[in-house]
Amino acid sequence: NNLNQLYRSVIMDHYKNPRNKGTIEDGTLTVDMNNPTCGDRIRLTLNVVDDVVEDVKFDGEGCSISIASASMMTETITGKKIDEALAMGDEFSRMMLGEDYEMDEDMGDIEALSGVSQFPARIKCATLSWKALEKGVKTSDSNNNKE
Ligand code: FES
Ligand code: FES
Repeated sequence: NNLNQLYRSVIMDHYKNPRNKGTIEDGTLTVDMNNPTCGDRIRLTLNVVDDVVEDVKFDGEGCSISIASASMMTETITGKKIDEALAMGDEFSRMMLGEDYEMDEDMGDIEALSGVSQFPARIKCATLSWKALEKGVKTSDSNNNKE
């Protein structure tokens, strides 16, 4: 139907013209994550100032779903507080599990990935960048606590 077509073209646009691709030199946070099912990897670099994501970039290899999702994620969390970004990741996970989720305009293009929940093998592709974000934040929290 038309909505599916729209979603598909949004995904392809992010795949072909990924937003925020690359690395931030001197970022405050770097995290690597791989998708164990395929071995694809992503690196996120973030610049977090006063708990706000000032800038975020991603790099790595992956399929169209993983690249599109990473592109959407970086666009969505830029300018957000870390807590807000993580909460969005939770909603995204719910969406991927086919559960009820709360989505507002703040979530940008991400809803275009909602159909991925019907393809269990692809869910890890779509969540790769969000898992990387979560891992990076948790790692930096525990480092801070050690100081
Ligand atoms: Fe098979 Fe991503 S792991 S499509
Ligand atoms: Fe590897 Fe999708 S097939 S991230």
